[in-house]
Amino acid sequence: MTDSAVESAYALLERAVVHYRGQPVGTVAALDQKDLAAENYLDCFVRDFVPAALVYLNDGKADIVRNFLDVVHDIRGAGPPLPGYERHPGVMPASFRVMRADGEEDRLVPDFGELAIGRVAPVDSMKWWVILLGAYVRATGDTEFAQRESIQCTIEQILHLCVRDTFEVFPTLLVPDGSFMIDRRLGVYGHPLEIQALFYGALCTAEQLLVADDRSKRLIETVAKRKQTLEAYVRKYYWLDRATLNDIRQFHTEEFGAESQNILNIYPESIPDWVDDWLPEQGGYFVGNLGPGRMDFRFFSLGNLLAVLFGLATDKQAQCLFDLYAEHWNELIGETPLKICHPPLEGEHWRLLTGCDPKNPPWSYHNGGSWPALLWAFTGAAVKIGRREAAERAYDLAAKRLVADQWPEYYDGRRGGEVGQRANLNQIWSASALILSKQILSTNQAPLTAMQNPNQGKP
Ligand code: GLC
Repeated sequence: MTDSAVESAYALLERAVVHYRGQPVGTVAALDQKDLAAENYLDCFVRDFVPAALVYLNDGKADIVRNFLDVVHDIRGAGPPLPGYERHPGVMPASFRVMRADGEEDRLVPDFGELAIGRVAPVDSMKWWVILLGAYVRATGDTEFAQRESIQCTIEQILHLCVRDTFEVFPTLLVPDGSFMIDRRLGVYGHPLEIQALFYGALCTAEQLLVADDRSKRLIETVAKRKQTLEAYVRKYYWLDRATLNDIRQFHTEEFGAESQNILNIYPESIPDWVDDWLPEQGGYFVGNLGPGRMDFRFFSLGNLLAVLFGLATDKQAQCLFDLYAEHWNELIGETPLKICHPPLEGEHWRLLTGCDPKNPPWSYHNGGSWPALLWAFTGAAVKIGRREAAERAYDLAAKRLVADQWPEYYDGRRGGEVGQRANLNQIWSASALILSKQILSTNQAPLTAMQNPNQGKP
């Protein structure tokens, strides 16, 4: 059953390939639905293409990945920005489309958020681009591509955009709502974990890709320092287990100055009721968001799993995370892996933080729905830290359901038991995540981990 699931996933992936001037450059987000949830599912999304790109690299089909990197690189800055606004050259689009008119040359139409539903800014795209560039170079040995003047310049521009002084006092990145995989309002503005993990992954990768010369020397030093401060900050302040919960409960507040413990002035009264019951003795996780007077205690899968893959989590934290998954298997993995976040926003919280979004009711879509596209990050992180059994169990669940249900985009329900009410079928990253997970299990190799220094991840 499992292998036929992979075969069917490959067949879907093949049909999804997008061509530009005769060359394969990416894959559409979803296919063949008479009634796709939105028109832009026919675009090639940067984040959606990542698992497919890793599959292609594993299969020795690097051309499409290189073409994709090239195309996304070349369309930076394309398209009219808002009047009175200069788009920074490091910004990359959420997605692009190939327009083909009779008798004319193919044309690329990027979306930097000015077309997207809700006009959301894709802050994750530039991070994924750098991370994927690193994976491409490691898989092919094509350092010449990464060392091209224009590519080096773009890496530098992205870094400048992320490390420069803004209206900030934290080592983390401040972003608007919906600026990553969760690209709708869900109270994920501020310093969401997924962006911080991607930022960290991009810093690690850039450090390896940048060629040191007089121009880049200072930037390389800044990147190395920022990586350290970001790492220390996330490991210390985002981490939640029984011990840190106990500390937060005892926090003094209104502390001023360099010696304060409760630097963000988190009020113990803000700890939601569910946390105490839910947090097991053994497990722990990085909370979803952290800012002044604000700790979002929700658990977000992708940020946590990327923290393990990129070595942002210590070895101990990574094991604790998988203890948490083991303890809450039914909720977090359920019938169809993988829950995107837990718990969902309900009632007044849903009304205020989603703006009454009917696509995001509790236990659906981004608000506690289950996403097959996340499977590869789970299997990868599990294999990386020696929890293979969890990876196999999750993989088997996905392989059993996804083909039969025609590769849904997401599932609904507490246990992810029902195909999402507004989900597309034939969602491409659901299929590529399954293939990639199979490859991870066959080779026992986690993707995107080679960017780390040997000491990263240690406590
Ligand atoms: C939805 C998802 C987003 C994804 C896009 C294309 O908007 O929230 O993460 O990239 O669909 O699949």
